[in-house]
Amino acid sequence: MTTDNTTAHGAAPKDTPPEGDRPVVELRGAGKSYGNIRALHGVDLAVHSSRVTCVLGDNGAGKSTLIKIISGLHQHTEGEFLVDGEPVRLSSPREALAKGIATVYQDLATVPLMPVWRNFFLGSELTRGPWPVRRLDIARMKKTADEELRNMGIVLDDLEQPIGTLSGGQRQCVAIARAVHFGARVLILDEPTAALGVKQSGVVLKYIAAARDRGLGVIFITHNPHHAYMVGDHFSVLRLGTLELSAARSEVTLEELTNHMAGGAELAALKHELSQVSGVDVEELPQAEDLAAPTAPAPASSEGKS
Ligand SMILES: Nc1ncnc2c1ncn2[C@@H]1O[C@H](COP(=O)(O)OP(=O)(O)OP(=O)(O)O)[C@@H](O)[C@H]1O
Ligand SMILES: [Mg+2]
Repeated sequence: MTTDNTTAHGAAPKDTPPEGDRPVVELRGAGKSYGNIRALHGVDLAVHSSRVTCVLGDNGAGKSTLIKIISGLHQHTEGEFLVDGEPVRLSSPREALAKGIATVYQDLATVPLMPVWRNFFLGSELTRGPWPVRRLDIARMKKTADEELRNMGIVLDDLEQPIGTLSGGQRQCVAIARAVHFGARVLILDEPTAALGVKQSGVVLKYIAAARDRGLGVIFITHNPHHAYMVGDHFSVLRLGTLELSAARSEVTLEELTNHMAGGAELAALKHELSQVSGVDVEELPQAEDLAAPTAPAPASSEGKS
């Protein structure tokens, strides 16, 4: 059995955190019901500094519900949610941010026609001069945005270009650098690679690793076990609202992870159903083992860090 240990950055994933390292964010038996619908139940999750925790699961598995609890959008209805070991109940994303929990959503709240530097400071603009002659400190914002992007290894030709002209991957990277600059300790990324091609996904994975190397605890939501395995230290697979697997990197191979995601048993059942539909040759369909064959994207490390 081979495992793909390729990592998206210089430092390899570090697997289990050191003994006694308190999680920044922790869920204990947490759950969420929307009226009669139990979207999440009995979930344990620990997010440590300098570690990437991957949350995987099929559509409707409860991934978004899980991160909505941590990012302060929804409140859990069972179990515990702790930040720095203290039980909390966050009532808004602003409250989560005050505790250092930042979320990068897939649709990225950016203004496409505004320059990159302006989007970097959106909602937290720097100003200079006393009221009533206070003005935007454009020079300082440009300089800081440029420095922060470079610190993360992100080099853009021109910070004056509208952010809408950047690729989806580059915009994700700007959002990650922004969260790091504004002091995030925990960074939640909701399917950042879902709409991206192989190369751009590699770039985003590289900056996930860069955020981890800057000491952030990263929660990386994805459908893609290959992407998860390139940067993950811990893997939590959700299925119908409960944890199906929670394993450190040393406890699970890429093949096993892929099998969990592909749902070997479900695939067999689907094949059985399809066999009753004429015109479908079930023998031609992939086996569960075939799905586990690594077809990992090009190693992001080949992008080269500048
Ligand atoms: N506001 C809501 N009210 C009622 N049910 C909800 C609500 N939000 C989510 N659900 C239900 O909770 C379950 C989990 O949904 P969730 O969005 O967390 O899944 P997901 O893993 O993020 O899926 P996807 O991959 O499609 O984004 C689903 O059955 C969904 O229908
Ligand atoms: Mg979702």
